[in-house]
Amino acid sequence: MAYRWKNDLTQADATPKAQYMNRRQILAGTAGLGAIGLVGGAQAQSGLEPNTLEEITSYNNFFEFGTGKSDPVNNAHQMVTSPWTITVDGLVDRPGTYALGDLLTGLTVEDRIYRFRCVEAWSMVIPWNGIELADILGKVGAQSGARYVAFETVVQPENMIGVQRRVLDFPYVEGLRIDEAMHPLTIMATGIYGEPLANQNGAPIRLVVPWKYGFKSIKSIVRITLTDQEPPNTWAGINAREYGFYSNVNPNVDHPRWSQASERRIGGGLFAARQDTLMFNGYDEVASMYEGMDLSVFY
Ligand code: MTE
Repeated sequence: MAYRWKNDLTQADATPKAQYMNRRQILAGTAGLGAIGLVGGAQAQSGLEPNTLEEITSYNNFFEFGTGKSDPVNNAHQMVTSPWTITVDGLVDRPGTYALGDLLTGLTVEDRIYRFRCVEAWSMVIPWNGIELADILGKVGAQSGARYVAFETVVQPENMIGVQRRVLDFPYVEGLRIDEAMHPLTIMATGIYGEPLANQNGAPIRLVVPWKYGFKSIKSIVRITLTDQEPPNTWAGINAREYGFYSNVNPNVDHPRWSQASERRIGGGLFAARQDTLMFNGYDEVASMYEGMDLSVFY
């Protein structure tokens, strides 16, 4: 597959944690998944270092646990992540409620070092471990009539202070067009730095779509629905003028309340210069999916 290793950051960029090189491994809860792929064939982007695990796990958005950046690290330990099932339904040959391990058995966990750009104009570089969503959709048998994929996050009111306070309309939902879902850059992450995902990052499994604003990367997924209709997504439902369905990273289209031309790298320090935001967050290989769309307007 042409894009399979098309990361532009290399393994060598992702080793502030020395033990990581020694510990690339099958993740807990998904034992027996087969070999982990290596990030290869990549040009390193100079000056771009991955964030530390500490940064990645302590500055989060996960509104089920509150609206502050440190609410998830403080509250998400209350979420129960085992056992975990994912219901797969809609236009699919093998619908059902799968134990997570069963759904992922036989699929390959790969290392993917991706830029991550939040719509709020902060960013990180995160060394994910995950499975291509296309592999999962292939396993359950996505039907030819499926044009979109819808995702839903778990709701555990007793464990989720943000759900109790109704800070959003839960469950958190998201969606992708089928070609976006099938794109080899799109993964379902199960780990970071070779460790199982922390609850605040969306344990035990979350979507990662690196060329889109971070809110598309829905956490702690319990339902995947193949559909012929564009599914709703939580933030567009809250404010369709500010948050779209596509929400591809685009430095030329500002958010109504702030510029998207540059971003603040988390961990860069108080006085670090902002860095330029890249079209499609630097993942130019996705551009062909949007041919014919006017990229100077908001979607
Ligand atoms: N998924 C759920 N279920 N709830 C959320 O509040 N926040 C989104 C996204 N996925 C969110 C979610 C937003 S706005 C961002 S920027 C990313 O998760 C943050 O991911 P991170 O905390 O792992 O960096």
